[in-house]
Amino acid sequence: MAESPSEPTRILIVDDDTSVRDVIAVLLGEEGYAVTAVSSAEAALDAARLSEFSLVISDVRMPGKDGFWLLDRIRELHPDTAVIMLTAFGDTEAAVECLRNGAADYLLKPPKVTDLIRAIERALGRRRLELARQRYRRSLENRVREKTAELSRTLGDLQATYSQTLWSLVAALDAREHETSDHSQRVVRYTLAVAKRLGLAEKELPDIGRGALLHDIGKIGVPDAILLKPAKLTPAEWAEMRKHPQIGFNILQSVEFLDVPAQIVLCHQERYDGGGYPRSLAGDAIPIGARIFAIADCFDAMTSDRPYRKGGTVDAARAEIARYSGTQFDPRCADAFLSMSPDELADLARTTQARPI
Ligand SMILES: [Fe+2]
Repeated sequence: MAESPSEPTRILIVDDDTSVRDVIAVLLGEEGYAVTAVSSAEAALDAARLSEFSLVISDVRMPGKDGFWLLDRIRELHPDTAVIMLTAFGDTEAAVECLRNGAADYLLKPPKVTDLIRAIERALGRRRLELARQRYRRSLENRVREKTAELSRTLGDLQATYSQTLWSLVAALDAREHETSDHSQRVVRYTLAVAKRLGLAEKELPDIGRGALLHDIGKIGVPDAILLKPAKLTPAEWAEMRKHPQIGFNILQSVEFLDVPAQIVLCHQERYDGGGYPRSLAGDAIPIGARIFAIADCFDAMTSDRPYRKGGTVDAARAEIARYSGTQFDPRCADAFLSMSPDELADLARTTQARPI
């Protein structure tokens, strides 16, 4: 901790030898330092616990706990406090040990005044530099933290904008077919619920949700006369209609962040047994998101009201999914879907909740 400029620098002197202690205390007091002098390592630690000193000058050899013990305690308690050790003449081993244990310096006893003052100034200077370095590092860390938070807020906003754009696009498509976007919302919810039950990674879910949301985007390329035809389609019209997965894929493939959803769009009309279109893919060759979506879409179609018919019951739709498990649908996905109770499904069907992606 840095003392304010108006406060004198606080120094703690520790020596069992009264004369050395008093001489140093008086000298440093005259130099303008605020000095506390004690006669043992234990008393020094008590004083250091009460408040932090900028510098401790301690004798090595003292009755009771010695200077090494005190040095260790001070390093733990206040790592920024500089410690100068006083060693007896010829005790080179002790001097080396002090430096190794983190002392700023050592002086031979009794220290010469000039040596003492120089050592104190050096130690305090190094401490000031170290504290300044720490403050600088902390302020840099804070700036990095602030910038990171700002960046993640911006990314979040960007994601929300992407998502809003996709939902608007789908709403426009739904309006063309005189539909509300409820179907899209429900299908996304069912798809994500099954994906979670299958234990897919959390980070895969947004892409799978987007694939489900955009599945029929290719219908934008199907003429109104076919898409909105109130009667049965002719084989030629069906051929046209069946192009929509490929058209959807073509639209999305140039958008980098829609890579995975584009694959789901391309494969959303495939069947597990290979009887679907456009490529007659089978089994695991169909992306997992598309295999899950097929069930969600079928369930929603069977349970939703249409202008020309009332929606079927949840039980009847579940029975159909069980019946086509292994042929139209991936049995693992069908099992995961069927493990949801009618109550859970009813909950997911409520489109008054926030958008799932
Ligand atoms: Fe479709």
